[in-house]
Amino acid sequence: MPYYSDEILDEVRNANDVVDVISQYVQLKKKGNDYFGLCPFHTEKTGSFSVSRTKQMYYCFGCGAGGNVITFLRNYENLTFSEAVEQLAGRAGIALPQQEMSREQQERADRRSRILMIHKDAAVYFYKLLRSEHGKDAYDYFKKRELSDETMQSFGLGFAGRRPGELYKFLKSRGYEDDIIKDSGLVTLDEKRGGRDKFWNRAMFPIMDANSKVIAFGGRVMGEGEPKYLNSPETVIFDKSRTLYGLHLARKTRRKEMILCEGYMDVIALHQAGFDNAVASLGTSLTPGHAALLKRYTSDVYLSYDSDGAGCKAALRAIPILREAGLVCRVINMEPYKDPDEFIKGLGKDAYEERIAQAENAFMFSVRMEERKFDVKDPDAKTAFHRAIAAKILEFPEEIERKNYIDAVCRQYEISLPAMEQLVTHLAADGYHRRSHSSRQTDEAPKRRRRAGAPEGLREAQRLLLTRLCEAPQLYPQVRKAIDPEDFTEGLYRDVARMLFAQIEESGRADPAAIAERFREDEDQREIGAMFHTTIAKEESAEEQKKMLEEVVMRLLREGLNYKSQSVGEGGTSYNDILKEKKRIEQMQRGGIF
Ligand code: UTP
Ligand code: MN
Repeated sequence: MPYYSDEILDEVRNANDVVDVISQYVQLKKKGNDYFGLCPFHTEKTGSFSVSRTKQMYYCFGCGAGGNVITFLRNYENLTFSEAVEQLAGRAGIALPQQEMSREQQERADRRSRILMIHKDAAVYFYKLLRSEHGKDAYDYFKKRELSDETMQSFGLGFAGRRPGELYKFLKSRGYEDDIIKDSGLVTLDEKRGGRDKFWNRAMFPIMDANSKVIAFGGRVMGEGEPKYLNSPETVIFDKSRTLYGLHLARKTRRKEMILCEGYMDVIALHQAGFDNAVASLGTSLTPGHAALLKRYTSDVYLSYDSDGAGCKAALRAIPILREAGLVCRVINMEPYKDPDEFIKGLGKDAYEERIAQAENAFMFSVRMEERKFDVKDPDAKTAFHRAIAAKILEFPEEIERKNYIDAVCRQYEISLPAMEQLVTHLAADGYHRRSHSSRQTDEAPKRRRRAGAPEGLREAQRLLLTRLCEAPQLYPQVRKAIDPEDFTEGLYRDVARMLFAQIEESGRADPAAIAERFREDEDQREIGAMFHTTIAKEESAEEQKKMLEEVVMRLLREGLNYKSQSVGEGGTSYNDILKEKKRIEQMQRGGIF
């Protein structure tokens, strides 16, 4: 729900040129039509941060940060949406209507910030307690785990009072009402017993978001006991599946890669040893939300999970999620230690640095794990293992990747290269192929793996088309003949296409910043940033440009058909629809689109 009407937001945006505003924070240089500078959202030496006056948007080709002038201010200054709008309105001398925020919205925004305040107060309370005489046990516990005072401070470690009820009393004394205290998740309220603290007599780990705001806590028993860790429940400010422990520090690292581990203590021990790029997903396995978050800051992830069976399993689950997000992934071997914390204690940081250098390719790791399931001394089991490898290889969408992995696997496991090539080819012909590259095979494409969204190639074609249309709206009438907004495969792409098509139809021009405005989620804004900043390699003549665009349109239609045909029979698309569409595309290809 927007707090301000679209008209007001348009007015505020129009009065604040994105280049002018961003220039106040980032040194920009003009290159061609756009402005470039060092991205303020990740560490870089070459400027991949671009700002476009015509589009009124910014986009970083390095980390993918993107959006309009309001997004920029929100992320740069860490403001809420309405704070950013207010600041921009002030800058342009626009008076904002006062009652634009409904009572309900006002209350919701209020509640959020009150719950954040509760967490901040609680964190300070725990922090001070740890450093007082009451916190001696916890302090000794952290010392026993070899944490320095400096480390304890930088992670804001604390101690939750010896008895339940101390935090509740403290929060009441700070003037918070029961209602909001309950929603913070830090206290449970019960008619008979009153308020009961969730955490007591535990060593406390505040969980912070990327902007260092405390949004939750983890609490460990000091010594043995169950459960070992307690974590805050999910609340309006805490979404486990989008939070990485340690990210507020790791985002500032100078290292290119991120280390992903499993636990609080792993992250802390790694940071203390100088690996300030370590983060962990907490008490939950890795989600696509975590992967998308990581992708903002890096393109290389090193998994440093526990070396036991559970850790290996968790790594195997994490690898495809990271890959799907476009991250290159390697696995660090922790043997003979259980986890990074114990490894560092046992062998020290230089040894860990070596392990990073020796980290195993994620695919080769997963093959090695697969091998454990088979008794490869038995020829049948060995064949089954080789089949399993071939099936894994087919997960790679690109021919060259498949080829390189076939080479690597054959070398490592002493398999005959032609035999493996043949196995892969046969398996593909049996319809095992994840996503076929020629329309001839479409009917056989398997039905699995679609939930992750359309394949990257198709999404790229859609982005190319949106960018092109936005830069050259005069091409719209021709494009419109070939493509309908409904041809775009995913919700977000389709919504954006609909809006862009409508804008051009109405006014003959595109206003991408206004489109971005309609989406409030940061992830959406970033994706939209990418949609309007995907460029076709430098085309020369108008003729070549046209050809390029025609190719993109055809690719979108063909791959889209491919994609849709995977869901034949699952409702929605019928086989007939597919055939009809196929004919239409073939016709168009023969006759030319433009
Ligand atoms: P581990 O059991 O590997 O613990 O759990 P650890 O991080 O090595 O902890 P120490 O070294 O014994 O202190 C990994 C992570 O799983 C979550 C926590 O986030 C923990 O850091 N976890 C574990 C829980 O949420 N609850 C538990 O009871 C145990
Ligand atoms: Mn541990």
